[in-house]
Amino acid sequence: MTLKIAPSILSADFVNLQSECADAVAGGADWLHLDVMDGLFVPNITIGVPVVKSLRKVTDAFLDVHLMIDRPQRYVEEFCRAGADLVTFHVEAAQPQDVLDGLKIVLEQGKKVGLSVKPRTPATVLLPYLDLVDLVLVMTVEPGFGGQKFMPEMMGKCDWLYQYRKDHDLNYIIEVDGGINAQTGKTAVEHHCEALVAGSYCFSNTISFDEAVDTLLAL
Ligand code: DX5
Ligand code: ZN
Repeated sequence: MTLKIAPSILSADFVNLQSECADAVAGGADWLHLDVMDGLFVPNITIGVPVVKSLRKVTDAFLDVHLMIDRPQRYVEEFCRAGADLVTFHVEAAQPQDVLDGLKIVLEQGKKVGLSVKPRTPATVLLPYLDLVDLVLVMTVEPGFGGQKFMPEMMGKCDWLYQYRKDHDLNYIIEVDGGINAQTGKTAVEHHCEALVAGSYCFSNTISFDEAVDTLLAL
């Protein structure tokens, strides 16, 4: 599949969210990554359902919603209804039966579903779910904040996910999130990642969207 670039709006200027998103899309990104945090699963609070709903009205971009919330099965349906195209939640945030229920709810809404693992969680924890998901999100920083340093030691998980997918004829997308820039993005692509989330790199003031997205797309 062609590489997807998903600018994370966590690093955007929230006062001008509509134009920031429009700039990202005009720059060549066809996904927008929306980080939802509840101050419980991660030590930060960001956006919720109303922001997803508002963005849905002003963009046709693929909305990649990353839930960093406790017991996500309680809210996945609302995020689907708000206009998410893909809802990804954390395997650590729910009991196994609730993970399955959460996946099922999203799929019943006709949306794509993903599961994510924090840096200290082995990818093998995902084994019971890999035949159900459309995407696996490998965190390459501790979730909670933008602007952290990429953890190259997470690449082993991407290699493992790639091999497992091949061996079992599955087709989930492998996405990485955290510390992605031109160098680390290249590393991720070498380890079979097909979707790159980039917050501070895309929304930095030092380079333009066009330059950031073009650089990542060329990897
Ligand atoms: C962190 C979020 C990321 C964040 C990435 O918990 O999930 O999506 O915005 O930001 P950068 O690209 O700056 O590491
Ligand atoms: Zn994210």
